[in-house]
Formats: sequence, structure tokens, C-alpha cells
Amino acid sequence: MSHPLSAIMTTISSNPPPTPDFYLYPPAPIQRTEISPEGDWVTLFWEDDSVLTCYYLWLQENDIDQGGIDPATREGLLDPAELVLERTIHNAFVDESGHLCVEWHKGPLSHFNSGWLKTLAAGQHRAGAFIPLSIPWRRADLEAPPKHCAKRVQSDAHAMAAWLNDLARYGVTLLDNAPTQSEFLLNFAESIGPIRDSNFGRLWDVHADQALAGKAETNSTANTGLRLGPHADLPTRQLPPAFQFLHCLRNEAVGGASTLCDSLAIIEHLKAYQPDDLKQLTSSRWIFFNRGPGLDHRWSGPIIDFSGAGRNPVIRAFYPVKAFPDMPQREVPSAYQALKRFQQLAASDQFELRLTLQPGQILCFDNHRILHGRDAFAAQGVRHLQGIYIDRDEIDCRTRVANRLADHSPAPSKER
Ligand SMILES: [Fe+2]
Repeated sequence: MSHPLSAIMTTISSNPPPTPDFYLYPPAPIQRTEISPEGDWVTLFWEDDSVLTCYYLWLQENDIDQGGIDPATREGLLDPAELVLERTIHNAFVDESGHLCVEWHKGPLSHFNSGWLKTLAAGQHRAGAFIPLSIPWRRADLEAPPKHCAKRVQSDAHAMAAWLNDLARYGVTLLDNAPTQSEFLLNFAESIGPIRDSNFGRLWDVHADQALAGKAETNSTANTGLRLGPHADLPTRQLPPAFQFLHCLRNEAVGGASTLCDSLAIIEHLKAYQPDDLKQLTSSRWIFFNRGPGLDHRWSGPIIDFSGAGRNPVIRAFYPVKAFPDMPQREVPSAYQALKRFQQLAASDQFELRLTLQPGQILCFDNHRILHGRDAFAAQGVRHLQGIYIDRDEIDCRTRVANRLADHSPAPSKER
């Protein structure tokens, strides 16, 4: 229902109303408003048919002029215990610049920025905003991980955005032209955001020659010369690290090629052809347990874990630490069979990509999505990689900021 005054009341403001954040929004004049009979909702309409319906208490929380938002930090100041429920909307109209004005019952006039409100109408306040949607891939779709230049990524905002967008789309990228300098990866990753520490340390080394000579630390199969089938690291944690970067410093070893496959493509295949396997893999839980001396990390979850809030599931698939079935006894035989078929698909020509890392390359991949592996080392040779983990919060934050700075953000993403 339109308020009788909404079409005719205007107010004059020389500056656009401040926003509850630090971004600049292009003006997006609101065409008209409608208030609910109880004055608790106001709906905003734009000429391009965009619509946004706002609850009165939410508007009060985001009212920077009237003490809802701290101008210095742009964080909310209203303790929900102190909300004034009877302070509903008496009138809502647009000023001559198209911004929203709200006249409260027993309260002053408040102003809300039209560009900020239009951004909400477009869904760009959601967690997936400014981050491209995932593109599932099979070997036929992606002959090699998308390549980007490490030096350009470090020095050019557009190159940074392009790299991060490919990492979001495909879950894997290859940076080249990085210096073959020990600990370069640490500085590079820290320029993105805080790195994720683990019992392997903030920066960890993989030495093939030491592994074959039995000199490497033996708290992980990764530190041996054994083949590693398709897997995702650290399912022993409540939330495994989301991204892994592997920097190749030297590679003169025979063998040890890297393998990659996209779990999203496997899930598509399972949905179409093996739905019973998919049901089993997403519901039957396993206890993952690392048994290094002095260590006892454990977590229980399904192989394909949709329990999180992210767009994609978390893959828990690292057989060296898959210790016990955590499911009714009757499920155990079919759970093993489903897992065997899942791992066979992950290592099949249909899904698996292979590459040999060269010195100066950094393989970056989504450890929740991409299953990675390694051939056995067939002979002794110097192969030295350094790795780090970094969480999705840091990568996603940097992706959003890079897209905004580079001003070529992808279309708003739809939450799934
Ligand atoms: Fe691994």
C-alpha cells in the first residue's frame, strides 16, 4: 500500500547520505516507495524493476545519522536488547536525488543512500558477491590449470583479480615466473592474507631426495616417496584448510608428477549415473585421525561434506588418515564400495589432470574441492617443494577487494 504522502514529499540534500560501510556507490535513484499497513516494512522500487523490501528495525540498525552505525568503524552500535519496537515507519519517500527518507513515529528523519540500497537489491551484499561461480571441469575441459604470472599478480591489481577469479572458477591455477628462492611462498601468501598454520608449520618442505634417503620427517605419507592417490589434505580437522599453494624450487626427480581432479565434476557424474553412491558418500561418516607421535587430531565427517555454509561441499578424502567407519554397521559394506568407485573416478582419465611442476611455478588449489595426488618417485633426484595453507576467508576477501579495485567485477553471484 502506498503512503499518501510518499509520492509528493521531497527533501533537499546536497551530499549523498553516508553508507554503513566504506565503499562508494554510484547513485541509483529510487522511483517510489510503499509502506506496509503496520509501518514495519518499506518496499523500494527502481525503474529497472529492481525491488528491495526493508524491515524497520533493520533500517534503524543501519541508520548512520541516528546512531545505528559508528561513523568511525562503520560497525553497528545497537544492542538488540535495546531496540525500540514501537518506533515504526510513519512515512517513507525519496528526496530530489532519489535517496530514501524515512520519517519515524516519535523520531527524527533518517536518510539512506540509494546506491547502497540498490546494491542490496542486486544481491551484492551476499557472501558470494564479487566472487565468480565455480565451473566444474573434467580433463577434456581443462588441459592444464589456468596460468598466471606471479610477478604480475604481485604488482598489478588487474592481474591479481584475474588470478583470483580463475582460482574461484576452476579451483586450481598455476603461477609461473616466481623466483626459486626459499620462503618466497611465505611472503607471497602473506601478501594475500594470514596463512593457516598446522602441525607441519606455517611453511612446509617436501624433499624427494630426503624422503628417499629416509631423512625427511615421517609424520605424513607426503614425506615419503610413495604414490599418493587423489586426496584432500587435513580431513582430521573440523574445517580443513581451504587452499594449498605448492611452490617448486627444484625438480630433477624421476617421477613425482602431480595429479588434480575436480570433485564438482565427479559430483555431477554421480548425480547423473550413480545417485546411490552420492547418497552414501554424502551421509556415511568416517573418523579421520592422524597418529603422529604427540598428535591426536580427529574429526568425523562424510567423504563429501555438505554440512558447511559454503557454496561447495568440503571433500574429506585422505586415506592415510581415514581410520574408522563412524556409521551404522549395515552401511559399512556399501560405504566402502561407494568410496572405492569415487576414488576410481578421481584417478580416471575422464577426470584426472596430470602435470610436472617446474622450478618457479606455484600450484594453487582449493583443498575443499580439488583432489590432488602424486606419482611415486621412481629414482633419487632433487625435488624440493614448499607449501602453505590459507583459509577461504582470506582468499575470498582478497577476491572481493581485488574485483572492486580492478573495477571489472563479475556479475553478482547467486547463492546456492
Ligand atoms: Fe596432499
